[in-house]
Amino acid sequence: MQLPDLKEARKRTSKEILIKTNDYIVKENLKELGLGKKYYIKTYGCQMNVHDSENIKAILEDMSFEETDQFEDADVILLNTCAIRENAHNKVFGFLGRVKHLKQTHPHIITGVCGCMAQEENVVKEIKSKYKWVDIVFGTHNIYNLPNILFDSMTKNEQEIEVFSIEGDVLENIPVKRDSKYKAWVNIMYGCDKFCTYCIVPYTRGKQRSRTPEYIINEVKELVKNGYKEVTLLGQNVNAYGKDLKIDYKMGDLLRDVAKTGIERIRFMTSHPWDFDDDMINAIKDYDNIMPYVHLPLQSGSDRILKLMGRRYTKEKYLTLYNKLKEIPNVAITTDIIVGFPGETEDDFKETLDVVQKCQYDSAFTFIFSPREGTPAAKMEDNVPLEEKNERLYRLNEIVNKYANLNNQKYLGQTVKVLIESIGEKGNLFGYTETMKLVNVDGKQENIGKIVNVKITDIKTWSLDGEIVA
Ligand code: SAH
Ligand code: SF4
Ligand code: F3S
Repeated sequence: MQLPDLKEARKRTSKEILIKTNDYIVKENLKELGLGKKYYIKTYGCQMNVHDSENIKAILEDMSFEETDQFEDADVILLNTCAIRENAHNKVFGFLGRVKHLKQTHPHIITGVCGCMAQEENVVKEIKSKYKWVDIVFGTHNIYNLPNILFDSMTKNEQEIEVFSIEGDVLENIPVKRDSKYKAWVNIMYGCDKFCTYCIVPYTRGKQRSRTPEYIINEVKELVKNGYKEVTLLGQNVNAYGKDLKIDYKMGDLLRDVAKTGIERIRFMTSHPWDFDDDMINAIKDYDNIMPYVHLPLQSGSDRILKLMGRRYTKEKYLTLYNKLKEIPNVAITTDIIVGFPGETEDDFKETLDVVQKCQYDSAFTFIFSPREGTPAAKMEDNVPLEEKNERLYRLNEIVNKYANLNNQKYLGQTVKVLIESIGEKGNLFGYTETMKLVNVDGKQENIGKIVNVKITDIKTWSLDGEIVA
């Protein structure tokens, strides 16, 4: 048993990051462990987790398990969890309640919790004491060892907990079963060293470690060969890519080299304003296949709150960067904002509204501050009443929605390029523009997986309607 330890997880040393190509092994006797058995995996949280689930699926399939999308049919049920805010927790424990029910009548089912919540001491304590029927718990650094963890659980009949609280290495031989045949997530870095005072990610994901350009570019080349149209380069702070490598190679260089592979669309997320350099902006301008879309989290518009958050930029610096980004032709910019950070006054909040008014974002994810155990902000005096936080969120959303709608209006009557992804619930096709606008389209199934020209015929706040034109 290896329990999480937040103090350990916080440590950052100068220890060299190792590139490991042999850690993932499925022993001969485990390759058919899942024969005739099904797995179900439910994913919470960010794209990083979605991509981890793609790895977990491939690992389970290496053991002959088959995927099902009905948890009632599964022999293995995994919850890949997110720890970013309290409501993420509540959702997971809610779903565990339903799984418990099923387990009472189907005791052979193996139930597991993994992902960022598994890295939290209090969560694992709770699972150990109150959810003894959960069979396995494994952390974000332990995915490669899932075959052995599963086997131990099946043979030992006791709760298997394996959560390393380490800085982490880069594992290069983990298989992947991608959810889409056209769009792919590609990790370019893991972890985060920014330690924004409210955020749990540096504790759940370890230190910032970039993959080497060779591995990334080869992965993209392979995707191009297999007919993929779009890659999203993933990291908590993609702009800081390469800073931990011992070569002079940064995000701008990587963007250019990925663009040269000929992949039709390149996206990247998330960008921290701190590391956004001119070279990156120029790379976006220089290549048509680097999408003109930037997610640039603001968090707060108040210099005082930004300082308490440890974001290392001021309102003015943010706006300067924003204005530079706006020079990218046809760019769309979205953001994340937290309201009700400890000590946030009405004046602080007005500074946030001021930035939103100035930037007129294409869209924004807005959150109420949620204290995360073990982070500095959780110890700050949280003196903003909940009612006030709700009211601020409401006022903020009103303005965010107004600008989202206004930005969408510009598309009416225009013809845009849409990568058609799939069929929606109402039988329509849907996909995204270069600027990451969701478009619902009438059209034939054979357009799925293609980039088509779509004339926009109607506007909603969060999506566009259109028809395919030649
Ligand atoms: N690496 C990204 C953010 C990843 S988390 C970045 O730095 O921009 C996604 C968003 O969740 C954050 O941008 C922030 O707005 C929000 N968030 C993170 N921790 C939070 C907390 N404790 N309470 C409320 N929102 C939080
Ligand atoms: Fe969290 Fe800040 Fe790192 Fe983003 S940059 S993951 S908000 S610590
Ligand atoms: Fe959540 Fe972990 Fe992502 S906390 S947002 S799943 S890195």
